[in-house]
Order: sequence, then structure tokens, then C-alpha cells
Amino acid sequence: MKKLFAVLLSAMLLLAMAACGEQPQTPDDTHEPAVLHMATEGTFPPYEYYDNGQLVGIDIEVAGAIAEKLGMTLETTDIAFDSIIPGVQAGKYDIGMAGVTVSEDRLQQVNFSDSYATGVQVVIVKEGGKVQSLDDMADAIIGTQSGTTGFIYASGDFGDDHVKSFTKTTDAVEALKNGQVDCVLLDNAPAEALVDANPDAGLSILETAYTVEDYAIAINKENTDLQAKINAALAELVADGTLQSIIDKYIK
Ligand code: ARG
Repeated sequence: MKKLFAVLLSAMLLLAMAACGEQPQTPDDTHEPAVLHMATEGTFPPYEYYDNGQLVGIDIEVAGAIAEKLGMTLETTDIAFDSIIPGVQAGKYDIGMAGVTVSEDRLQQVNFSDSYATGVQVVIVKEGGKVQSLDDMADAIIGTQSGTTGFIYASGDFGDDHVKSFTKTTDAVEALKNGQVDCVLLDNAPAEALVDANPDAGLSILETAYTVEDYAIAINKENTDLQAKINAALAELVADGTLQSIIDKYIK
């Protein structure tokens, strides 16, 4: 009898302990800050790239500042660019931030925050190569990053046969260096950074730009609350000069 009592007592104690240690059900009740999951693609300097093994760049810092305003912790996942929008749409990530251009097609899949930067599609060419002006592109093989607006323009304007896609922007540039493609259609800031990173390769950027675009943060369509909070945070970061100072740190 004594033994049974002891067993019962310890069972009750265990239950009481479990009840005390029970995790709160909603993030608002926790003392741990909630996590803002961000999908990105890390071969896009100065927006996202690796420096000493660390993912850095304008998007990483702006997202960090937004997360801070929202009382959240930023967590980044580096994936293929063409997986970012589908991943946000599927709810795998809260946001996609990767120099993502706002487009009608993408607006069918996700919502976008207000725009925080402008991108210009430009053409990287190689000294002595087949493409020396936009007119030469019709007979050329154009390198692009898979799933980007660069790919969409190149294949739309010149046909799929004229386009080679790469998972990483850096691989597209390597392909230009070794003659697999005749030019690379890419956003201006990464294009400049990648040309600068290859000083002896005879690479340059055509003066005539291809097109101008707006970058924004992709957010799941159902998460309109997060969208509103992000826009409010962005507006504050614009008003107090934080956004500009982050951009100035990376783009001279
Ligand atoms: N702005 C272009 C687009 O949205 C290219 C973005 C590529 N970004 C990246 N992190 N690789 O399609």
C-alpha cells in the first residue's frame, strides 16, 4: 500500500511538473523572439553573398533591421533562386528577399512589400566576343540565372535556343569567361560586382541597359498581417535613413 501511494505521488508530481513546463501555444506568449524565416540566393553581390563564409549584403541587413523592428530573429536559408517564390507560396519561408523583381507573374503567386530598391538589367560581354552591342544578342547564346527576369527577357525576346541558364550567377559569368555563352543578362549591381571580381577576364558591361525593375520582399499571400508590418518597418527604415545607409555601405 505504501508503495502504491509512493508511485501515485510521483506520478502526480510528474504531471504537475509537466504542466508547469508546458510550452505556450502562440508565439506572442513566448519569451523567445519569433523567427522570421527568409529564403535567399547567395550569389548576388552586393545584395546577398558570402564574405569569409558569412552570408552578408544589403538584403541580409535590411531584413535584419526589419526583423528587429518586429521583435523577431532573422533566419536565412540559401536556396536556388527559382525555388524562392514557390517556397514562399508554399509557406516554407515567411519571406523571400533576393533582389526579387516585382512582376505580374510573380504577383499571381505571392504578395510583395513596397519596393526598397531599383535594379537595371544589363549585359556583361567579353572583350573580342560575339556580343559588343544589344543588336548582337539575336545571334548569340545568352547566359542567365535560372528563374530570373533576365532569363524571362532573354528567352522571350530571343527564344529558348538562345539562352543557357545557371543556378548561380557566378557560374553564368564563368561560362562567359570560357566561351560557353556570349554574354550574360543580369542585374546591374551584381553585374558590376562580378566584373570587378574578375579583373583580368576582359569583361565589361554594355552601356545600353536592358530594362529597369523594382525589388521588393516576397510574402505569402495569406500573410497580409506580416505584409503590413513589413511595410510599416520599411517606411521607418526609409524615414530614419537606415535603408540608405545600408545601401551606401555596399554600393559606392
Ligand atoms: N532581379 C532578378 C529577378 O528577380 C534577379 C534576382 C536574382 N537574385 C539572386 N539572389 N540571385 O529575377
